[in-house]
Amino acid sequence: MKAENTSDFNRLANIFNAWLKPQVSGSAGGLAEISSYTLQLPGKRLRPVLCLAVAEMLDVKLDSLRTPCLSLEYIHVYSLIHDDLPALDDDSLRRGQATAHIKFGEAAALLAADHLQAQAYKVLTSDRSIPAETRLAVLDTIAKASMDLCEGQLLDVSAPKKGTFEQQLAELEKRHSLKTGALIRAALSIPSHFLPELERAAMQSRLEEFGHHFGLLFQITDDILDVTSSEEAMGKDLSSDEERGTPTYVSVCGLERAQELAAESANLAKKSLSEFGEKAGFLQSLCDVIRLRDR
Ligand code: IPE
Ligand code: IPE
Ligand code: MG
Ligand code: MG
Ligand code: MG
Repeated sequence: MKAENTSDFNRLANIFNAWLKPQVSGSAGGLAEISSYTLQLPGKRLRPVLCLAVAEMLDVKLDSLRTPCLSLEYIHVYSLIHDDLPALDDDSLRRGQATAHIKFGEAAALLAADHLQAQAYKVLTSDRSIPAETRLAVLDTIAKASMDLCEGQLLDVSAPKKGTFEQQLAELEKRHSLKTGALIRAALSIPSHFLPELERAAMQSRLEEFGHHFGLLFQITDDILDVTSSEEAMGKDLSSDEERGTPTYVSVCGLERAQELAAESANLAKKSLSEFGEKAGFLQSLCDVIRLRDR
């Protein structure tokens, strides 16, 4: 990643971390303390960073995205806590530390994640600095994405369907688009709710196209890193999908083809932002950052 892109990513992630800090430091006891454990571990903060990057591109004030970004990260982290449970991936390492259920027990982790999901909506609905209509539109976007995420997670743990290579590829794309792409697309689309109605639709369709390719790119690289990276670098258990027989881009296409597909998705994502010109520079560079990432 070029230095200015690294610093752009860190700058936006740090804005988010400063918003998160007061939310987690005051949570003494109860389920909030358990969810705060995973929340404050060093995640990449990709969804808030995407939301803030689009806000900058569209000249939307970053401060107005505080609670939408918190909401996105809360949904993401609740999904990680559930994803690691024995009923799903049964993993014991997340963000470099013991998973929530290993540290606090299964029942507490399950309930803390439920609590965090409700908090994702509460933090947003309580934010009176956002006009009620906009708040409702953001809430609706996040709720729909969260429902899709659950559908994708169910497909992930369901018995894999056999079929032709093309059918398997289509199934993978659908599953990944739901379990990972939906929240990424939501993060990208939220800032446009802060624009006047006339500008909104055109922006949303460009960003939807970018999000489709970017989300796929993100999950293809997650599948690739599952076999090429180390647990130390990723801070989570690897190869769980392979052990459970869940099809991934690598198991269906092979590593080389998966890498080609990641490059194709990165190119298509970049192309879909071409009309934004230089203003989309950071988001375009992020495609290569994600394609070449090691965590
Ligand atoms: C991991 O997401 C789960 C997937 C959707 C693949 P991230 O790779 O964004 O995890 P953190 O937030 O950095 O821990
Ligand atoms: C999880 O996908 C996606 C969600 C949490 C919704 P994975 O199971 O591949 O994520 P990791 O690899 O455990 O982070
Ligand atoms: Mg999973
Ligand atoms: Mg997992
Ligand atoms: Mg994975």
